[in-house]
Amino acid sequence: VVLLCAAGVAGVAWMFNSTTVSTAGKIDFVHALPVPPLAPSTVDAQGRRVFELRAQTGRHDFGDRTADTWGFNGAYLGPTLRAARGEQVLVNVHNGLDEETTVHWHGMHLPARMDGGPHQMVPAGRSWSPTWTVDQPASTLWYHPHPHGETAAHVYRGLAGMFLIDDPATSVADLPNRYGVDDVPVIVQDKRFAGNGNLKEGAPLFSGVGLLGDTIVVNGATAPYLDVTSERVRLRVLNASNARVFDFGFADDREFALVGTDGGLLDQPYRMNRVMLSPGERAEIVVDVRPGERPVLRSYPPDMGADAWQERFNGGEDTFDVLQLRAADRLAERPELPATLVDTPRLDPAQAAQTRSFTFSGTRINGDAMDMDRIDATVTKGTTEVWEVRSQEALQHNFHVHDVQFQVLDVDGRQPPPQLSGWKDTIYLYPNRQYRIIARFADHADPDTPYMYHCHILFHEDEGMMGQFVVVEPGQRAGTPGGGHDHG
Ligand code: C2O
Ligand code: CU
Ligand code: CU
Repeated sequence: VVLLCAAGVAGVAWMFNSTTVSTAGKIDFVHALPVPPLAPSTVDAQGRRVFELRAQTGRHDFGDRTADTWGFNGAYLGPTLRAARGEQVLVNVHNGLDEETTVHWHGMHLPARMDGGPHQMVPAGRSWSPTWTVDQPASTLWYHPHPHGETAAHVYRGLAGMFLIDDPATSVADLPNRYGVDDVPVIVQDKRFAGNGNLKEGAPLFSGVGLLGDTIVVNGATAPYLDVTSERVRLRVLNASNARVFDFGFADDREFALVGTDGGLLDQPYRMNRVMLSPGERAEIVVDVRPGERPVLRSYPPDMGADAWQERFNGGEDTFDVLQLRAADRLAERPELPATLVDTPRLDPAQAAQTRSFTFSGTRINGDAMDMDRIDATVTKGTTEVWEVRSQEALQHNFHVHDVQFQVLDVDGRQPPPQLSGWKDTIYLYPNRQYRIIARFADHADPDTPYMYHCHILFHEDEGMMGQFVVVEPGQRAGTPGGGHDHG
């Protein structure tokens, strides 16, 4: 009887462990980190900065496996778009796939018709050319498809890239800023590979969050290292995973400076040794290295606040080595980080015209699944609103809103931690905590074209954990979202 019991327990433990991965300390970092190229652009007769993006299929070499993938202007991921505040940009998005998709500018403040959400589908073989004037602080944004019900698959196959905003007024000259040298995009994703090298798209057994990988890829490479040639390097870290929450830190527990989050730089650098990012979130960190060092960026098991069972099945116990920094024997000197960075104007809740509540539970928001034809909230242009957001269950969710960058007023009535002290467009929702956020909807009224808010765990989003809001002129009513599709 004792033997049988032991075998039973061992069997159960093995089953649990099949979803629990730890590659910490086991990786040989053998692939030079690819840096997404800066997208070339031209300036047209009207002074607009014009980019070309083509969604296409391809075969991508992740380093030790080659897989069928999707990418923009290449086989996997896309180039880094870069524009300055005040510039008008135009992106010619061509859909070279066999199915419809969209390109959404995550974190960008822009008219709803240019947003690339599920109402701006681009049919296979067709093009879409959104244009807008960049008007927001220097920041690390990104772009990815947003076809309703298909976002998880399209992003997982490789459609994603960074969009950097430059703005001298909200930037700091003394931060490392040589792209690809000491200012480096770090796009982190988890993948699962089949025996033939292709990506596995199925969710692991018992996953409540959809796709979870057991292999980390950074900028499309497994086991990557970055040659560092100066004593200070800035990493623009993006969690572009479908579901996985990362808690980044260094294997030797060294401190780094958190200098920026989703929508721009923080008021000051914060010394810390961990930064947690849920899907869609970004962190700009600055790391000091000494000659010859090889510090390893790692993801530790995140504290997701979910119950033990949920965490076990949804990646909460996993540790991964992410990226090795290889400092040269001689390092270029860089200026010390300034004590203060930018001065973020604070939005005042006393000025709020509206307070709304959003409760997350069971892939529903306020009890409703996403309906392309239903407007869930009508916001008046030129007003400030407070949104109270809460997840009511022990499963991980996060909250992303289009069009605006918001500020977190408080979390369960308490002042937010440094990571939530600046402009944000995506926040992790610890179960049963109330996040009070505030945003100003300054312009871009369009009663017929909604923006989205949703859980950025893409399986949940596809399952309908998403709602729609429109921005209207004072006194105007919400229109109809045009039957769901707007083939521009
Ligand atoms: Cu990153 Cu609505 O998306
Ligand atoms: Cu977005
Ligand atoms: Cu969710």
